[in-house]
Amino acid sequence: MEFIDLKAQYAALKPGIDARIQRVLDHGQYIMGPEVAELEAALAAFTGARHCISVASGTEALLIALMALDLQPGDEVITTPFTFAATAETIVLAGAKPVFVDIEPDTCNIDVGLIEARITRRTRALMPVSLYGQVADMEEINAIAARHGLAVIEDAAQSFGAVYQGRRSCAVSTFGATSFFPSKPLGCYGDGGALFTDDDRLAQAAREIRVHGQSSRYNHTRVGVGGRMDTLQCAVVLGKLERFAWELEQRARIGARYTALLADVPGVDLVTVRPDRNSVWAQFTVMVNDRPGVQAALKAAGVPTAVHYPLPLHHQPAYAQHCCVDCCPLSTRAAQQVLSLPMSADLSVADQDRVVAALSVALSAALSVALPEALPAGPSDALPAALAAVVA
Ligand SMILES: Cc1ncc(COP(=O)(O)O)c(C=O)c1O
Repeated sequence: MEFIDLKAQYAALKPGIDARIQRVLDHGQYIMGPEVAELEAALAAFTGARHCISVASGTEALLIALMALDLQPGDEVITTPFTFAATAETIVLAGAKPVFVDIEPDTCNIDVGLIEARITRRTRALMPVSLYGQVADMEEINAIAARHGLAVIEDAAQSFGAVYQGRRSCAVSTFGATSFFPSKPLGCYGDGGALFTDDDRLAQAAREIRVHGQSSRYNHTRVGVGGRMDTLQCAVVLGKLERFAWELEQRARIGARYTALLADVPGVDLVTVRPDRNSVWAQFTVMVNDRPGVQAALKAAGVPTAVHYPLPLHHQPAYAQHCCVDCCPLSTRAAQQVLSLPMSADLSVADQDRVVAALSVALSAALSVALPEALPAGPSDALPAALAAVVA
């Protein structure tokens, strides 16, 4: 079983992707070829954002968004420590200071109730992360930003395609920044990403920053980066769009099925999805005690897992200076408990059943070790009725 089944996806899309790659090889415009503008138009239409700027990666999307805001040394950007390093890394690279705010324990997204207390006269932007595929509380975040004159950058690396109050992730704030890393909900075959905005001036700035700050050829009006997305990678994403709507439906179905099957399993907590939004389940992540034991049992049963993420950024050597060690306790706890299960649009019902059965057995074994008197002797006796058939 694959953790993310990219081979099955390619098998289904092979004719279209191969033809698109061949077209690029034939026209030879590997940098800023016609597929770049074609993809940007398709993604802008899909998200509803006025502008889409394709870039070299999700990291580059975040960095370019921050650079477009003209941050000054000492400026602060509020974000979550329970994310991939790129979120805080780009804030530091842009010359600002990351200010970490803890997460909600049930969604693992930034706790908006804690943001305003951390705003200072140096705060320039809020950078929520739409973790695991669910958009953060953007309505409240945008309202806070409006009250304090701040920009909002959604780190949407994991949430492309998600819907929030009827709008698409990436089109719910000043900037939306996504990643086309191969394992993301919409991925390419290397590195890629995109930036979205409705603001004409910021879009122009981002387009210039993407090409070394050029406003026209060899006219470097600002400091930029080499941040373009290759034509070949744009062609791959265009090929993937062919069945992206179907993939989103499958992800929703598989996520709902995991949720139903695991709802009553003792010893596992699930990530909550708020009623005014959905998740594209970039990861299907659960929370368990004794994660090492559970992970080892799943591995022995042939079920691959991953941890997103084992250490919150305020405990990482590179970022610890920006936050006290005890300041984000819920992020610290989540980092000890989260475990991501196999998830992709091509995950079969049979494989999903194997994952759920193996997890249930691992958890009941862990619980009977921890609470021997509280549980029946046989591991399968502890399984809820919904799982009995699966395990049998
Ligand atoms: C939350 C988050 N932000 C940023 C990134 C960076 O994206 P990329 O790997 O395309 O640079 C990732 C990718 O893993 C991510 O998960």
